[in-house]
Amino acid sequence: MKNPESNKMLDFQQLLLGPNIDFKEIIEKVQKITNLKLDGYREEYLTRRIIYHLSKNKITNLNHYFEKLTKDKELLDSLIDCLTVNVSSFFRDKSSFDYLQKKILSYLSKQFSYLRIWSLGCSVGAEIYSIAFLLNSAGLMSRSELIGSDNDSGALNRAVSGMFNASEIKNLPPKYARFFTELQKENGQKVWMINSSLKEVVTFIKHDLASEAPLSGYRGMRKFHLLICRNVVIYFSRELKEKLYELFYDWLEPGGILFIGANESIIGPARKKFEQIHNQFYRKPL
Ligand SMILES: C[S@@+](CC[C@H](N)C(=O)[O-])C[C@H]1O[C@@H](n2cnc3c(N)ncnc32)[C@H](O)[C@@H]1O
Repeated sequence: MKNPESNKMLDFQQLLLGPNIDFKEIIEKVQKITNLKLDGYREEYLTRRIIYHLSKNKITNLNHYFEKLTKDKELLDSLIDCLTVNVSSFFRDKSSFDYLQKKILSYLSKQFSYLRIWSLGCSVGAEIYSIAFLLNSAGLMSRSELIGSDNDSGALNRAVSGMFNASEIKNLPPKYARFFTELQKENGQKVWMINSSLKEVVTFIKHDLASEAPLSGYRGMRKFHLLICRNVVIYFSRELKEKLYELFYDWLEPGGILFIGANESIIGPARKKFEQIHNQFYRKPL
């Protein structure tokens, strides 16, 4: 069955843009205004998201749109949110986290005396904080270093704040409640803040995967034992995905693990270099 929302959007696209619209030009303008590096993203994905943003804001004139984007910070932020899609949750894809807890962490802690862990495209931090809960529970925190990175400053600010609302924590097992403090905002709304002892062990850094650059300036960019990049590369072109998987291979220590998203697989030359050890887990051979 067709999604009525997507039909509505198609009508909007036809009404607004007509048959001869040059979407490459629009994407270039959006890239300049948002300062996001968009050339590695799939054109079809960007087109869909920009149309959605226009339709949501009931804007039908592109010149007005671009002019408004340069003046209206809220509209600009909402466009960045719309392009980067920050959906995330604690222990997203539970069976993978179960495997990580039972097999991967014990393998890594036996193999290496110290664990450097990097979540790329970490959104609001739920993914890297989930790893922190597991490390803390396994007594591995004192020999671990955790980094979360994203190209969206709004998401990173939320990650640094460590604040989550009731719906974001509602599915967390009660044993993790000890990592949060319940607070009440001025408007009476309850929020849960990650305790500072745990928050302090995660460093959040702005990093754009599309730039294909390593984490510059971060302790000389030493190699990592666990890289987590899940539900991020789905927006990228095949070419950028292939390059990134090669880079992830380079950024790992031999024996290190790459953890990718459900429904994702490694493509390109890196596929032959990694050993798949379980659904979403790949190892760089020793
Ligand atoms: C759907 S969320 C996934 C969050 C988390 N990894 C998870 O699986 O729950 C995708 C995240 O990737 C980030 N992202 C998108 N393009 C990026 C890029 N070029 N560089 C770094 N992060 C990017 C978005 O800002 C967003 O926070």
